Amino acid sequence: MDGTRLVLVTGGAGYIGSHAALALLDAGWAVSVVDNLSTGYRQLVPREARFHQVDVADSAAMGRVLSEDKPVAVMHFAGSTVIPESVANPLKYYQNNTEASRRLIGLCVEHEVENFIFSSPAAVYGVPRGIPISEDQPTCPISPYGKSKLMTEWILAEVARATGLGYAVLRYFNVAGADLAGRSGQMSKAATHLIKVACETATGKRPEMSIFGNDYETPDGTCIRDYIHVSDIVSAHICTLEHMFRKSGNLTLNCGYGRGSSVRQVIDKVSELAGHEISVSIAARRTGDQAELIAGVERIKEILGWIPRYDDLDQIIGSTLAWERRGVS
Ligand code: UFG
Repeated sequence: MDGTRLVLVTGGAGYIGSHAALALLDAGWAVSVVDNLSTGYRQLVPREARFHQVDVADSAAMGRVLSEDKPVAVMHFAGSTVIPESVANPLKYYQNNTEASRRLIGLCVEHEVENFIFSSPAAVYGVPRGIPISEDQPTCPISPYGKSKLMTEWILAEVARATGLGYAVLRYFNVAGADLAGRSGQMSKAATHLIKVACETATGKRPEMSIFGNDYETPDGTCIRDYIHVSDIVSAHICTLEHMFRKSGNLTLNCGYGRGSSVRQVIDKVSELAGHEISVSIAARRTGDQAELIAGVERIKEILGWIPRYDDLDQIIGSTLAWERRGVS
């Protein structure tokens, strides 16, 4: 390395991690990626980044990476993210999201990493007490996924208090879209997320799709989510990182736009941008789905001065369709 300060990105061969690696490089940081490639793809790691095919839970190997690369900060994206899978296989989630993170946090303290940014989901809130959901709402996750992430939030807070490790928790709402320059996008053999599924259907990769419930108490009966473009999520990480090196104090911030779209609105927009109707049927509600999840975003805007650039369903869906049409995913 040439003296440029280095950020270690775990899960940097995955969807959000690969976009973060690109954004860090664009912002002038050196980047090292750790990924075990269990769900990540080597080709999503930017060429300018160092790459280690290592499991975050492998402390011996991670210790060597930290000794060699000497990161000033870690962005921790690696983990498992599918709620129904977490219900069927909770131990996998407590291992990959809690235990692996606990080990990594310990190593970061040992290697004197200054700052740690952790990806957490809106799922830590569980059933919302009101809309929008502010960071002050109680955290009562209902899935093993949400619990496995919340436990890591607790570990971070306690370790920070005891050691002085700087940390930020960014709680994501529904991340979607792809890099507008086409350098990365979501690759997944068994996608479950609405926008990707709808765009796969529009590009002929699936014959049809389902709407999971149209009898919710929402204007059109389908669930409402706060979809945020992946490039805005990663710009929030860059703002957080810069803020952490300017000012001490730990952060817990929602990442969303503060407004929502329904499943029906998303599907209509996909059909419009694809130029044809997609085949959709109504299916039963999916267990655990909430009618409406919208982020309270005052805190992130006020503290970071973060300004989203792609707060527009056309851009989110348009970039996903462009990525799907390239046929790499
Ligand atoms: N949906 C469909 N059909 C599909 C896929 C999804 O109708 O084929 C619906 C879902 O039922 C839900 C909405 O689209 O109402 C959004 O579902 P996603 O699976 O895209 O996203 P979720 O809101 O379930 O989950 C997302 C992230 C999680 C995170 C959670 C936090 O994927 O990682 O938000 O609330 F934990």
